Amino acid sequence: MEVIVEVEHLKKSFGKHIAVKGVSFNITAGEVFGLLGPNGAGKTTIVRMLTTLLLPDSGRATVCGYDVRRQAARVRQCIGYVPQALSVDGALTGYENMMIFAKLLGLKGRERERRIAELLHFMQLDDAAGRLVRTYSGGMVRRLEIGQAVLHYPRVLFLDEPTVGLDPVARRGVWEILAKLRRTSRMAILLTTHYMEEADTVCNRIGILNRGEMVVTGTPEELKALVGNPDASMDDVFTYFTGNFLDAGGDFRGIRQVRHISRRLG
Ligand SMILES: Nc1ncnc2c1ncn2[C@@H]1O[C@H](COP(=O)(O)OP(=O)(O)O)[C@@H](O)[C@H]1O
Ligand SMILES: [Mg+2]
Repeated sequence: MEVIVEVEHLKKSFGKHIAVKGVSFNITAGEVFGLLGPNGAGKTTIVRMLTTLLLPDSGRATVCGYDVRRQAARVRQCIGYVPQALSVDGALTGYENMMIFAKLLGLKGRERERRIAELLHFMQLDDAAGRLVRTYSGGMVRRLEIGQAVLHYPRVLFLDEPTVGLDPVARRGVWEILAKLRRTSRMAILLTTHYMEEADTVCNRIGILNRGEMVVTGTPEELKALVGNPDASMDDVFTYFTGNFLDAGGDFRGIRQVRHISRRLG
């Protein structure tokens, strides 16, 4: 199997606080890897190092065979990134947002038009393409952001908490899009989440992160088997490996995020 993301003993501190304590894992082509963990576990810090936005202190990470430290420009060309913060402009239409990204990515002419139309369709946004994004629902905004991030056929897509603040129906819509992306391309997908159901439904491999350490990696089935209870849920798995109970409701940062989005779009 073709390894697309290779992470070895990656470390990152902020002052005295060690946010990522020597984390290792691999992601192969066509795999959806879920980085699971409570707030503050280090998920975003790992994503930011793999997307070249943050320099690791030590350890090694390659994406598409390129070193995130020494070949950052090459890494950026082969990845798509949907950050936790908003990456669309509410004062423009969905089509216009796609066009800006397509131009930034250097797509041209008929190929650019074809790719934008194809992705608006893939994201089920054909009918909404001419509307201002500030009139979109949270789920539509997320789907547009995913569309923007894959315009250049990246070999890896990173999504940081892609469904935070979405209602269950919109969340399912995002899951369907990710499943469809996985079926129709050999893209490797890394998503972070603190929703157990999301990890179970969307990811074919999971890494549980706690206080900057990777506690365990495996398929949902493997992790449930390790717990020793055939009926174990992902919540049980998480509690077993971290000794923590996850907050089932929305967290403060998630809520602030949603408010931030509605303020910018409203
Ligand atoms: N830029 C930063 N400066 C200082 N501390 C940070 C910074 N970014 C993250 N941290 C700290 O590192 C830890 C991991 O944060 P983060 O990677 O955002 O976790 P997660 O995404 O899992 O919620 C937290 O304790 C957080 O407060
Ligand atoms: Mg985060």
